[in-house]
Amino acid sequence: MRLEKEPNVLYSEEEIAERITELGKEISKDYEGKEIVAVTLLRGGFIFTADLVRRISVPVNVDFMTTSSYGHGETSTGIVNIIHDVREDLEGKHVVIMDDIIDSGNTMLKVKKYIEAKNPASVKICVMLDKPSRREVDLDPDYVGFEIPNLFILGYGLDYEDFCRGIPYIATFDEVEK
Ligand code: IMP
Ligand code: MG
Repeated sequence: MRLEKEPNVLYSEEEIAERITELGKEISKDYEGKEIVAVTLLRGGFIFTADLVRRISVPVNVDFMTTSSYGHGETSTGIVNIIHDVREDLEGKHVVIMDDIIDSGNTMLKVKKYIEAKNPASVKICVMLDKPSRREVDLDPDYVGFEIPNLFILGYGLDYEDFCRGIPYIATFDEVEK
């Protein structure tokens, strides 16, 4: 799919790289002496995870989970299904769930509860973007790249009608003031 107009840059590749380096340091410090299982939510979380795990200095075991939510496009509904589970046995492990964005929080809440049922030693949530004004559930991420207002985002893993995940910067069609 070809875009009719270029989206606006909300965060550039350089700003993303800088923030990811900071997040990696913070996580490495918090998990010093431990190992992490990074559970990446597909599809949106793949680029963020790929960049972040390369900035974490403690051992990271990367695994993947796919969720689906009814409804297409920008918003998820409260009904979230896990359609592909992790391969690792998470019992006794330190899990960090990694995703592109937390919006309503419905996806993350479902995934967090699902993972907690596997008896891990701990579970934390790490997202590149947080839209707190959109939250429908009582859940806040432990690590956040950038907190943003209610804009529609594409690029850096986030899709626009299933395309555009490969745009290397965090983009929006909305007007941005920076
Ligand atoms: P939630 O369950 O409402 O928190 O939605 C989480 C999922 O919705 C994310 O993992 C994204 O796949 C998608 N999503 C939320 N906001 C946006 C956006 O601005 N652009 C693209 N996808 C989004
Ligand atoms: Mg997603």
